[in-house]
Amino acid sequence: MKHLGSISALRYHLRARPTRVAFRVFSSSTVNSAAEPSTRYKAATHVASSSSPATTSILVRSQANLLGVYARPDFVLSHGKGSYVWDTEGRKYLDFSAGIAVNALGHADEGVLAEQAGKLLHTSNVYHNEWAGRLAELLITLTRMEGGLGFATGTGPVSTGAVTGGAKVFFSNSGTEANEGALKIARKVGKERGGSDKTGIVCFEGAFHGRSMGSLSVTTNPKYQAPFAPLLPGVAVGRLNELEGLGELVREDTCAVIVEPIQGEGGINAASEEWLRALRKRCDEVGAVLIFDEIQCGLYRTGTIWAHSAFPADCHPDIVTMAKPLANGYPVGAVLLRDSIADTMTPGTHGTTFGGSPVACAVGHHVLSRLSARESVAQMNEICGYLRERLEQLPKWYPSILQTNIRGRGLIRGLGFKDVEKPGRVVGMARERGVFVLTAGKDAVRLVPSLNVGKPEVDLAVDVLESVLHIISQE
Ligand SMILES: Cc1ncc(COP(=O)(O)O)c(C=O)c1O
Repeated sequence: MKHLGSISALRYHLRARPTRVAFRVFSSSTVNSAAEPSTRYKAATHVASSSSPATTSILVRSQANLLGVYARPDFVLSHGKGSYVWDTEGRKYLDFSAGIAVNALGHADEGVLAEQAGKLLHTSNVYHNEWAGRLAELLITLTRMEGGLGFATGTGPVSTGAVTGGAKVFFSNSGTEANEGALKIARKVGKERGGSDKTGIVCFEGAFHGRSMGSLSVTTNPKYQAPFAPLLPGVAVGRLNELEGLGELVREDTCAVIVEPIQGEGGINAASEEWLRALRKRCDEVGAVLIFDEIQCGLYRTGTIWAHSAFPADCHPDIVTMAKPLANGYPVGAVLLRDSIADTMTPGTHGTTFGGSPVACAVGHHVLSRLSARESVAQMNEICGYLRERLEQLPKWYPSILQTNIRGRGLIRGLGFKDVEKPGRVVGMARERGVFVLTAGKDAVRLVPSLNVGKPEVDLAVDVLESVLHIISQE
């Protein structure tokens, strides 16, 4: 675990520190220029029909005792290394989903589980611990350096040796809890700005913000919402990238607008710069708090700390929520908010027992330090380009199956299908050939690999997808 002292040390660490072995170097960024798609993986090699008695007994025990809210294939994962995982039958899989965009540094990374676990596991928030403040400072510093939350790129720490400031962080344990926190903050700000009726919330079709009642109320999927109604009142639903009607959607009584800059579960749909700017402007007009849920698309998945760092400050939110990759699989979430609204949250207005624990924050600090190292970012950007080039070939080879455009940015990518039955099949067939990918929305296959993925992994994942698409095209 690296301890970073002053801000100048932090700057040195971020800008000049020789890269640790966080990211593998790959030799060539030249795209596989095959004239034809790969058909090497036509045969299903990972079919889970024949399990040993040991595996069968784990599956039986799980089925008998675990709440049946997940539809899972009949195998049991036992261990992993980097982008690969193995099951209890010894089958090896390429995890090109990174535990749903979580394992940014891959599996079983040396150094991720901190020595901190043997020192101080939990303190509660009744007392200070060293790491919560350090991780919060790192998040704010990186946001100011790379741009985000209203800070233009390069708005670095004001002075060396001083605390960074300019924003605040609240730590939670998951993404849905981070969004709950953000919505609560917006409600309180709304009441202070516009009185007791300024409580309306705006979200968008295709959004996924979590499963707790508040987050679920803005997750506009009837499959998730309907069984649990009634949900929060006063939620209005708009359409991503639709400029028309923004004035009626975001009203004087709106306190919060929540949006993913790139929708993950909803189908890898990116919000445009023009639309985010209009949304920001409208929020300012009515005094609504703009929340960007970057739980899936943030923390370097698009090559910068936030997906919205690619846009100028007039497209930025008041609050960013994060979770998934922050501690590479150790549970943590966070709300990052502008100082201008932070004052509303006084002692006792919000809290958590576990959030901001020394272990979660020490691990988060370690992970974020490595993800943000310049060389890591450069290598990631190179692999992003390679993945994009390979994926762009697929609609050309399979125009009858695939939509023309590859969705998303960086290492959050979606393949759109013309037939909504196909994505689920492709995910299953890829798994039977040893590669994990995910569905997204009604019509997409989602690729959210570890951020230190290498060229061989991209080649394997895309070769398998090509083989699967080939089989489907022959039907
Ligand atoms: C964009 C987004 N927001 C919120 C969540 C909920 O996070 P969690 O499952 O950690 O509660 C998810 C989870 O997939 C997500 O992708």
